Amino acid sequence: MTRHFRRDDDLSPAEYLQVLDMADELKADRFAYRPLEGPRAVAVIFDKHSTRTRVSFSVGIAELGGYPLVIDAQTSQLGRGEPIADTARVLDRQCAAIVWRTFGQQRLDDMAAASAVPVVNALTDDYHPCQLLADLQTVRERKGTLAGLTLTYAGDGANNMAHSYLLAGALVGMHVRIASPAGYAPSADVLARAGEIAAQTGGSVAHVTDPYDGFAGADVLATDTWVSMGQEGEAGDREAPFVPFALTADAVAAAGPGPVVLHCLPAYRGKEIAADVIDGPASAVWDEAENRLHAQKALLTWLLAQEATS
Ligand code: CP
Ligand code: NVA
Repeated sequence: MTRHFRRDDDLSPAEYLQVLDMADELKADRFAYRPLEGPRAVAVIFDKHSTRTRVSFSVGIAELGGYPLVIDAQTSQLGRGEPIADTARVLDRQCAAIVWRTFGQQRLDDMAAASAVPVVNALTDDYHPCQLLADLQTVRERKGTLAGLTLTYAGDGANNMAHSYLLAGALVGMHVRIASPAGYAPSADVLARAGEIAAQTGGSVAHVTDPYDGFAGADVLATDTWVSMGQEGEAGDREAPFVPFALTADAVAAAGPGPVVLHCLPAYRGKEIAADVIDGPASAVWDEAENRLHAQKALLTWLLAQEATS
């Protein structure tokens, strides 16, 4: 059966760690795996803006021996309303995998349901699982381990990053705290699913509305923009409630010893993260951005290996 990466928990806890191990191997040797040698093409489709995802998938697919076919959805027939399933049936005859950044999660799920090749979520409104692979690779590099660490994400608890921190953090046995204003809480379904996973891995999940209940003693502090792509019309409302949740020097001081600060980028200095934090000694954001490359190459290699053995 074709394996997809629609959301973080499409991988089991053991599979998730396997991909992280391969990401480390690929970081040590950029050409350790060449599953796309030929070259085979991978479609990388964007319904939304991107810098890191576009670059890391393009470079990564080339380094795996393949050809990145980067498609702007607006200039494709998808952008004119061609059914997602029909698009999948055209792409899967010519491409080894389909990577897609889009809006609603259902669109991605529909592509996966119709595709005979792996479909990878390059960000939806609901999840950003490729980012989490890179984030957790980065944390493990800095801390030497993942299970048992406390990771606090502060900001919009209802967005794609918050949901992926919950699921991926639970998969690797972390204690994940989401600190957000009450009106921006994580989806109850995602919180429940993450709780189920954490019960198996020895982790835990919690939602708190006092930011310092989140920051206190944390090993990892993460944040993201308060205004995600598609929410630009709400920018005015998405400021005042979030200010207490910003990653400031005080937030970092409240964390545990040697905290790791993450931000998926793009960052807005002076809003969700202070300039002296993102540009300071605790920040791992540039390693985090680089690790998108290694983690996604590992993911594609892993997914294609399942194809070969199924
Ligand atoms: N972090 C991330 O996904 O960045 P881009 O939006 O630039 O791809
Ligand atoms: N939550 C942000 C992440 C950007 C990488 C957004 O969806 O715009």
